[in-house]
Amino acid sequence: MSTLLSTLRLICGDSHVLTHDDPGTDLSAWELDWRKRIRGRALAVVRPGNTQEVADVVKACAAAGTAIVPQGGNTGLVVGGVPDDTGTQILLSLGRIHTVRGVDPANLTITVEAGCVLQNLQAAAEAAGFLFPLSLGSEGSCTIGGNLGTNAGGTQVVRYGNTRDLCLGLEVVTAQGEIWHGLSGLRKDNTGYDLRNLMIGSEGTLGIITAATMKLFPQPAAQLTAWAAVPSMQAAVDLLGLVHQRLGPGLTGFEVMGQFALGLVDKHYPQLRVPLWKETPWCVLLENSDSESEGHARGQFEALLEAALEAGYASDAVVAENLSQAKGLWHIRESITLAQAEEGLNIKHDISIPVSRIPAFVAETDALLAQEVPGVRMVNFGHLGDGNLHYNVQSPEGADGKAFLQDFEDKVNTLVFDQVAKFDGSISAEHGVGELKVGKLPLYKDPTALAMMRAVKKALDPKNLMNPGRVLS
Ligand code: FAD
Ligand code: MLT
Ligand code: ZN
Repeated sequence: MSTLLSTLRLICGDSHVLTHDDPGTDLSAWELDWRKRIRGRALAVVRPGNTQEVADVVKACAAAGTAIVPQGGNTGLVVGGVPDDTGTQILLSLGRIHTVRGVDPANLTITVEAGCVLQNLQAAAEAAGFLFPLSLGSEGSCTIGGNLGTNAGGTQVVRYGNTRDLCLGLEVVTAQGEIWHGLSGLRKDNTGYDLRNLMIGSEGTLGIITAATMKLFPQPAAQLTAWAAVPSMQAAVDLLGLVHQRLGPGLTGFEVMGQFALGLVDKHYPQLRVPLWKETPWCVLLENSDSESEGHARGQFEALLEAALEAGYASDAVVAENLSQAKGLWHIRESITLAQAEEGLNIKHDISIPVSRIPAFVAETDALLAQEVPGVRMVNFGHLGDGNLHYNVQSPEGADGKAFLQDFEDKVNTLVFDQVAKFDGSISAEHGVGELKVGKLPLYKDPTALAMMRAVKKALDPKNLMNPGRVLS
């Protein structure tokens, strides 16, 4: 082992190979997952400074038979980016490889290194006069490499798609330590298997993404945000249908938030002043991005909301007067995850269901859960425009979080995933499988698809050294 560490120090420099033996070194930032579910123990945290160093690190680990866990911002929610507890794995942090390599305005692309924090990528696009639309509550610390690794979704998917839809080309270090130079900005390329899309969403189990060429979009002329109280989940789905009709491609965000979820934000962050939540079971946050003007957007939005109130799809609504109010409304939505973490340990889901079937799914599954876990509190919110719910389960008031997870996590997951299967959905719409869902995947994934996944893994990573135990067990 010490030979491997010496080699890694030669490749990256002494100060970029951190171990528990280094006096005063705390590796928690890399070893503890965001939800504080798992604390792993790495043989070393290795921080290469460029793609060639990543390739050299991978080659050295392959020769030593040592497993590698790639990590970006460590904001993943399914325990995919932290090492296991054996003390034998290398945690490979992409944090030092974060340069924006270039913007190509004529081809509407930006090429950026994997460790670039999403917010910095958004800012680089904006500075060049463009929009990079991927947007998540964790954007201040997650990286584009992690976004690609998980095929992250977020709040703009209804218009722009998920991370996969935004990517044109990749640079990847394979499990053998070879560099695949796939940074194409081409929008069309039918020369064989789609390796780019195979790597995206593979959660570090097939290779290490070191850079990507991403799509840019024109900035909208105006962007308006509204917050509406809606009387039922069915009304929220009906409102979504109306909004699609009225706004067409102008609809860039459509989020639903349950009363209990908003109550947690109000409880833990009262300064955020959550609107309209007390008298309604659901609120909806919607965004209209207009290519003409603010006046056009406002006129269209006001007519839409009037129609929604008339049809009974909404009982009340507010439209943000300016950018700062709009940001405030989005901030409330994005604080639900943090408020839920403040409330204590919980069971998270990021399921997807055909939008039209969500009301029946929620009514039926809520009732089943109430029977299974007396006093259960549902933190239900998410990207309704994409049919993606964060159908999260909080322990009963006053219950011990750890005991709750021990007694109920598996039962609750089985109940929810069986319901998801019944409603033709997916057990993960955006967070991925990681370690938390690895045992469940074989129960819900088509067996032929699973066999093909195993064959791909075996072909690309025959020694099973790339993030072993994640996605596939
Ligand atoms: P990490 O957590 O470091 O890693 C995630 C996975 O990707 C791991 O399996 C890791 O091994 C792999 N990986 C990381 N870098 C690479 C690389 N360079 N090459 C190959 N594999 C790699 N997710 C959503 O989809 N939508 C949301 O709306 C959303 N909101 C969130 C809000 C909050 C407050 C938080 C804490 C998380 C949220 N997430 C959301 C989850 C998380 O932010 C995303 O999964 C994000 O894409 C992870 O990026 P990261 O850089 O932190 O990756
Ligand atoms: C979000 O949309 O805020 C995250 O994906 C959520 C979560 O489950 O906390
Ligand atoms: Zn989400």
